[in-house]
Amino acid sequence: MKRIVILISGRGSNMQAIVRAAREEQWPAQIVAVISNRSDAAGLEYASNNGIATEVIPSKQYTTRESFDADLREAIDRFTPDLVVLAGFMRILTPDFVAHYKGRMLNIHPSLLPDFPGLHTHQRALDAGVKEHGATVHFVTAELDHGPTVARATVPVLPGDTEDVLSARVLEQEHRLYPQAVREFIDGTYRMENGRVVFADVARHLDKK
Ligand code: GAR
Repeated sequence: MKRIVILISGRGSNMQAIVRAAREEQWPAQIVAVISNRSDAAGLEYASNNGIATEVIPSKQYTTRESFDADLREAIDRFTPDLVVLAGFMRILTPDFVAHYKGRMLNIHPSLLPDFPGLHTHQRALDAGVKEHGATVHFVTAELDHGPTVARATVPVLPGDTEDVLSARVLEQEHRLYPQAVREFIDGTYRMENGRVVFADVARHLDKK
């Protein structure tokens, strides 16, 4: 059984989608812990109701990024994960922390990267007048919201869209995309090598596109 630790900061709907998929599809993997930097993260309750260990490392109580990341890393490593999944974890991570989980930490970002890294992606997509928007799963590297792309989902931007309507359309896709990408990591479908995503079976991957 592979071991997955999920980090959240809020509602945790992507975390829930992953927990559900792991259970329903009987993944050869277990979500061993959900860790949050905020004690009021709504997703924590879902995790504990589902028998998953939860922990809070309250980022507000730390004066430096380094000290927070050091304690977070210790908390994560106690669960000896094969994969760390950032699911709405709203923290900028230090290069040392990122390096420690090189090739075994994924993030989902609500835009078609490299467009709109950072916050307020849906409103920025609307303001920019793009016709397509979406979400990207990528390996985490030192540069915020960069890192090699594992999977993307695209949605249309429609006339009259508001930030709420567009974010709901993207989120629905995130809930499909992220569990699938996590599962494929667990299955060894792809890995990160020399800063790139390498698929174990390139022919099959191209076939799926
Ligand atoms: C998701 O839309 C995720 O893509 C985004 O936060 C939301 C979390 O929702 N992540 C980022 O913006 C990271 N930069 P959730 O807590 O319901 O999964």
